[in-house]
Amino acid sequence: MQTKIVDLRSDTVTKPSPEMWKALKSLDNTQIGDDVYREDPTVNELEDTAAKITGKEAALLVTSGTQGNLVSLLGSTQPGDEILVESMSHILYYEVGGAARIGGLTPRPYFSNKGIASLDDDLQPLIRPRDDDHQPWITLLCVENTHNNHGGTVLSPAYLKDLNKFTESNNDMKIHMDGARIFNAVVSMKLPITDFTQHVDSMVFCLSKGLSCPIGSVVVGSQEFIDKARKFRKMLGGGMRQAGIIAVMGLLALQEKWIKRLEDDHRNAKRLASGLKDSSLPIQFSKPETNILMVECPPTTPMEKLVRALGNKGVLTLHKKNKLRLVTHYGITTEDIDFSIEQIIKVMKKFLH
Ligand SMILES: Cc1ncc(COP(=O)(O)O)c(C=O)c1O
Repeated sequence: MQTKIVDLRSDTVTKPSPEMWKALKSLDNTQIGDDVYREDPTVNELEDTAAKITGKEAALLVTSGTQGNLVSLLGSTQPGDEILVESMSHILYYEVGGAARIGGLTPRPYFSNKGIASLDDDLQPLIRPRDDDHQPWITLLCVENTHNNHGGTVLSPAYLKDLNKFTESNNDMKIHMDGARIFNAVVSMKLPITDFTQHVDSMVFCLSKGLSCPIGSVVVGSQEFIDKARKFRKMLGGGMRQAGIIAVMGLLALQEKWIKRLEDDHRNAKRLASGLKDSSLPIQFSKPETNILMVECPPTTPMEKLVRALGNKGVLTLHKKNKLRLVTHYGITTEDIDFSIEQIIKVMKKFLH
């Protein structure tokens, strides 16, 4: 019977820190209120803090990254518009087609190298003229930073700046950044978050991934945009009333020392990668830029069986086609990593030749 479990499926499995529990337990009725009336002081403080640190005018607490992306798309477009989304992006793959169904939008995929599209080759050919009556208006470019499906890859501020120039000179399109894991990018590049956010019109980031809150994401942008997003959040059933209960933990998540903690996850991902690299197994991967390691197995590998066998040895993983996804996060120690390396090598030796 396997007793030790190391859950490397996702950083969404993280649970609150002791400090978060303490803050939650000491919260009282004076610190919460009806947020739909904007009377929750803790939510207001979280939103003000998020706006301040990202250098945007305003912020909005939402239930999830998915809801944050959707209210952002709704707040930046009109039904019938076309939006550009990266071909492996979360918005395109995993958000249940909300952009099309609820927003009336046509998401048009663009290709990229690890989330980074070439302006001339990947993006320019997709731009439509505004004055051709046959064609939809194309109003928004979405980017993902870090990019989940590409293995936690980072889009640098320099690249975002180029994108911004590109969109300005192409119909003055707006940019929305799915920054579910933007703080991983921040920590990885050792740059202030404003270096990234100054080049985009809107962004969502998740409190509930590496930052280890149980619930919640935050959308940031101009005041006008957030006013619209707030209305759409209500439409989607996201008016949460006494949401200070969530925000009190979010405030701790946004402390500098907690953001810096993500460095541990990045170190652990690199440790995992170098442990597997030494195994001489027929696997391929790039050195992780942040907290996600995608391990490419030979195409004939029975991935479902492999994932099940790893689970039986106490290492929980996910796979996408023939890539095994390993995500480091709060709660995973270096001992857990070493244990995982040992188990993964043992199991893979049975499955891969
Ligand atoms: C890049 C990215 N965007 C958005 C989301 C959605 O977040 P949530 O699960 O809170 O809806 C995720 C979740 O894994 C994600 O990886």
